[in-house]
Amino acid sequence: MMHIDARERNFIIGTTILLLIFGAAVLVSSFAFGFQVPAPIERIDPKIVATPGSYPQYHWSDPVDERLREIAPNKYEVYILAQAWNYQPSQIRVPVGSTVTFYLTSKDVQHGFRLDGTNINMMVLPGEIGRLTATFDEAGTFNFVCNEYCGVGHHTMFGQLIVEP
Ligand code: CUA
Repeated sequence: MMHIDARERNFIIGTTILLLIFGAAVLVSSFAFGFQVPAPIERIDPKIVATPGSYPQYHWSDPVDERLREIAPNKYEVYILAQAWNYQPSQIRVPVGSTVTFYLTSKDVQHGFRLDGTNINMMVLPGEIGRLTATFDEAGTFNFVCNEYCGVGHHTMFGQLIVEP
């Protein structure tokens, strides 16, 4: 039988145990805590993402007040465009009980999108589409902020989701 040094064997066993722990953590967080990975859906050109007609399947070129769309009873989707240093739209109103799918992309540099009171937290990258969904069973105001440093106006980049009773 091949000889393996005792210390090397211990390292192999240790790293295998660590990998199993990490794997279990991913499974537990995804199934028990509803952890969602904001996987990019499709690559797009950030220079024309807000140009009417460029991407008719998405809605970042629609007027800002039409980017919240009711797609079924109590089901909404909202297309938020991030740019230095604001979100458009920056104020969203939905009735209580709504399920909202957030589509985000950036027109310029890397931004973030973190929505208080939910597990929504994603990087917003130019050229990529981020999509996450949350359900709002209680009325209230939920702030969202940019949590990736994006320049001198970074701290002014925020907005609100208002869940109306
Ligand atoms: Cu946008 Cu920080």
